[in-house]
Amino acid sequence: MREKLHVLNHPLAASFLSDIRDQHASRAVVRHRIRALALMLFYEATRDLPQQNVKVTTPLTETDGTRVGGTVGLVPILRAGLGMVDGILEVIPDARVFHLGVFRDEKTLEPVEYYSKLTQHSPVDRAFILDPMLATGGSACHAATTLKNWGVKQIKYLGLFGAPEGIKKLSDAHPDVEIYLGAVDSHLNDRGYIVPGMGDAGDRQFSGE
Ligand code: PRP
Ligand code: URA
Repeated sequence: MREKLHVLNHPLAASFLSDIRDQHASRAVVRHRIRALALMLFYEATRDLPQQNVKVTTPLTETDGTRVGGTVGLVPILRAGLGMVDGILEVIPDARVFHLGVFRDEKTLEPVEYYSKLTQHSPVDRAFILDPMLATGGSACHAATTLKNWGVKQIKYLGLFGAPEGIKKLSDAHPDVEIYLGAVDSHLNDRGYIVPGMGDAGDRQFSGE
């Protein structure tokens, strides 16, 4: 795998991913773990955020400090990416959020876009695509192409589980897009589901029994 693939390597991340994989995990647990893992991924993916020097006056003296520069956009792919937004907003509450509605056609596994308001706004400097599942990679490639057409210069993809097939597809189509994952799984099954994965990430968070 290429250099632009980063995989979380932390005991807490591994434990949370195991919790999510468990078919008996409650919706509350799945939501909590996705939120926490998204934040861990965001920390990793923002080590190169530009910094602006500022002066800060403490109760004792003036000192040098920094603040984050540039505009940041979070781009959750509906539905499953929604669960990754709130945790990240805790550390970057000013970030803009651009929802992208994309579902995967069940038969062809091709992405179908059903919601986007991107072009009504000016592009952000850097965008983070949020989606727990990188399966065939079709949805991620579609999102990256959409963001590039909008004018975003730096794009990163944040996901929980990636299949080798999806990682390759996204890397080949968008070699400039860095990929941050919780885990690289074994393969896709004949319905395009990640194995072992977590099943349907939208249903597990929102509408499953
Ligand atoms: C899931 C997931 C990704 C996509 C990944 O969404 O959240 O967006 O599938 O598959 P791909 O890599 O093969 O494109 P889904 O289409 O199930 O929509 P949902 O989140 O609304 O359930
Ligand atoms: N979408 C999901 O929700 N899960 C998968 O395993 C693949 C695509």
